[in-house]
Amino acid sequence: MDLDPNHPDKQEQDAVPRQTNWPVTVLGLESSCDDTAAAIVRLHKDGQVEILSDCIHNQNSQHALFGGVVPEIAARAHVEIMDHLIGQVLAEAKLELSELDAVAATAGPGLIGGVLVGMMSAKAIALGSDLPFIAVNHLEGHAISPRLDTHIAFPYLLLLVSGGHTQLIEVAAFGQYHRLGSTLDDAAGEAFDKTAKILSLGFPGGPAVEACAKTGDETRFDLPRTLLRRPGCDFSFSGLKSAVQRIWQALENPGPQDKADLAASFQRTVTDILARQTAKAMQLFTEKHGATHLVVAGGVAANQMIRQGLAKLADEQGYAFVAPPLRYCTDNGAMIALAGAEHLIRGQISQLGVAARPRWPLDESAAHRQPVSGSGKKGPKS
Ligand code: KG4
Ligand code: ZN
Repeated sequence: MDLDPNHPDKQEQDAVPRQTNWPVTVLGLESSCDDTAAAIVRLHKDGQVEILSDCIHNQNSQHALFGGVVPEIAARAHVEIMDHLIGQVLAEAKLELSELDAVAATAGPGLIGGVLVGMMSAKAIALGSDLPFIAVNHLEGHAISPRLDTHIAFPYLLLLVSGGHTQLIEVAAFGQYHRLGSTLDDAAGEAFDKTAKILSLGFPGGPAVEACAKTGDETRFDLPRTLLRRPGCDFSFSGLKSAVQRIWQALENPGPQDKADLAASFQRTVTDILARQTAKAMQLFTEKHGATHLVVAGGVAANQMIRQGLAKLADEQGYAFVAPPLRYCTDNGAMIALAGAEHLIRGQISQLGVAARPRWPLDESAAHRQPVSGSGKKGPKS
């Protein structure tokens, strides 16, 4: 495949190994969705990771009125706070820009207006302070996020479940990601947010649905579990969301108990779907690598029922179960800084002309071979 010269992967293919002066200290910026985040991470030669500072600002209150993330509002909110967060992480780490080894930013996938804010800030710092700039794939940040907290060895199986993504990824090594499954339509977090909207529970929907489900009967409504009987590890959640809507509209004068029962049935269904497809991916992974670690990341990993379902599955299959602390499960700057540091020590530095990519699959070859969602001008999404 011939890559565009502006393609971040192209820059990395052209990389020349560089002499590393250990440890390396990298500023990472994240602004691809509705969290603005900055962090400074130090990577040591023995693989030890030190988080020197880490700030996250969420925009929930700005999007709550709309029941979902509004891209224009998100982009403006990133612009308003990014400089302040950068100043704050430098102050907390007691560092000057000149003491950094590189600046990294999420270059995609994500909402383009937001991605540009982080990228342009990072490029400006790189240019002004004569530092290398590193364009990071947001999904790669999530893929290596468990290493922010624990020294977990490669290879491992990752289930990434957030508001924007639902993917099963074989993380063979840094830079070697193989997609085993992906959603064909909505992400799991999106299904939680839409269900919360249908049931008028507020935004973000995940925690609201989880709280409401506590007093509900999860067996009352039989909801669709799409794709489970088909071969493969892909997901589909749009039929589930439509079923929730149909059932809710068909109920006569629904009361709080109906709401709780529907929220509980929905949560049980998502848990079963995630566990079932992860079990299939585990089979493929085990054949290749044996049972190692099952890692769950992304905002939906905060859900206790989903965590328990996956922990039980891991235990049955002889895998160790790892759920990073929530701060590193959801969008954060530390995972971008760590990915940046890993690229830096491999000499994989981006040019300042590199473009943002609203769509940027982690496993580019699988996305071209088997696009699971529409291809379009911007290329495959997942
Ligand atoms: O990873 P994240 O913070 O942002 C991205 O989408 O990248 O994930 C946010 C998603 C939202 O859809 C939110 O509703 C969901 O994670 N979420 C949850 C819970 N907490 C957050 N879903 C289910 N249960 C939760 N407790
Ligand atoms: Zn994310």
